[in-house]
Amino acid sequence: MALTLPEQGTSWPELQRRLEEAGRGDADWRNGRVPMFIHYAGEDVLEVAKKAYLMYFSENGLGPRAFASLATFEREVVEMGLSLLHGGAESRGAMTTGGTESIFLAVKCARDRALARRPGMARPEILMPRSAHPAFDKAAHFLGLVPVRTPLAADFRADPAAMRAAFTPDTAMVVGSAPAFPHGVVDPIPEIAALAREHGCWMHVDACVGGYFAPFARELGADIPDFDFAVEGVTSISADLHKYGYTAKGASTLFFADPEAFALMGYYFDDWPRGQYFTHTLVGTRAGGAIAAAWAVMNYLGHAGYLRVTERVLATRRAMQQGLDALGLPTLGRPELSIFAFGSPARDMGAIGRGLGARGWTVGYVKNPDGIHHMLNLTHEPVVGQYLGDVAAVLEDPATLAGGGGAGEVVAQY
Ligand SMILES: Cc1ncc(COP(=O)(O)O)c(C=O)c1O
Repeated sequence: MALTLPEQGTSWPELQRRLEEAGRGDADWRNGRVPMFIHYAGEDVLEVAKKAYLMYFSENGLGPRAFASLATFEREVVEMGLSLLHGGAESRGAMTTGGTESIFLAVKCARDRALARRPGMARPEILMPRSAHPAFDKAAHFLGLVPVRTPLAADFRADPAAMRAAFTPDTAMVVGSAPAFPHGVVDPIPEIAALAREHGCWMHVDACVGGYFAPFARELGADIPDFDFAVEGVTSISADLHKYGYTAKGASTLFFADPEAFALMGYYFDDWPRGQYFTHTLVGTRAGGAIAAAWAVMNYLGHAGYLRVTERVLATRRAMQQGLDALGLPTLGRPELSIFAFGSPARDMGAIGRGLGARGWTVGYVKNPDGIHHMLNLTHEPVVGQYLGDVAAVLEDPATLAGGGGAGEVVAQY
């Protein structure tokens, strides 16, 4: 029979025991064995995020009238974010609950602007490179747009010529990523924005991963092109706080170049007995904790703190790349930030991944060509040697490699 609500309540000590028990089989992220999902910048940062979250656990971002504190935190978070991404005096933004919501709203705004400007448009299209995040297809699916994906260039970045060839009168939004999730490379945003500008089209930069990482990496010498509002023609940018902002999950930012673009996501309703209802974002109730934690972590780390953490993540990536290179497993493309993927056509990457899985590592894959994927944070810093040692052992272990079924075997699950 299906589970029902227990007749009587259960004590907290018993619930705590069960909660701990339930997590025993989960991946061990604290030991650096999970290649994504977690963005850890140290115990102190986690403590600040947790404490701030708990202080505003019950407050609701839906009610700025009641909780002026949250409205102030959000305004300051947005201003700090915009200052990192070359926002101008006209730029605007809001906090959302995550990258998918930020992208969803950007797609909605682009669609509405395109339909208003070109009423004859049959079905608005989103034009994006093959490496763009599935959140765009999800948004297209929900909002009645057609996703159009173009092939990547040899370096795994967007190919502006392919995007140009696929541009149609129905293109409502053009997308570039900074960086794209699969290979961690930054698309040529200036070229893509130039295409959008020529057609007066909406250009979205998906900086969900790089928004709070790339500005610091560039300061430290990362060789990536301009990717934010410094590029003329960029209309909106998504940047996740719960990734490299290192704050509590449930926090992203969505920025707009001007107030007109921003206004497209506002929603107002007054035709019911309870009066005026207005939100900037998709959701209604918003966790006050997520807003307060973002504000607290940004102020706790400050520019110097983010720079310090970024430097360590970059050093971790370089150490992993060098070690893997020496094992005959080069990096795919030339990632400059926190994500990289490696692989070789001479090796069965599925078998290597299974060998690593058997040694306790959670493995993420990329396809075409096959590779193994890492999105790094400070949990990985102390285990680089261990990881490289295990890869070397897997490469030498005929038993592991004998199990491989060739390149077609890689099943790249998110
Ligand atoms: C490039 C990129 N965009 C968007 C997202 C979606 O973010 P979220 O999972 O917070 O909705 C991700 C998630 O990893 C991402 O890597």
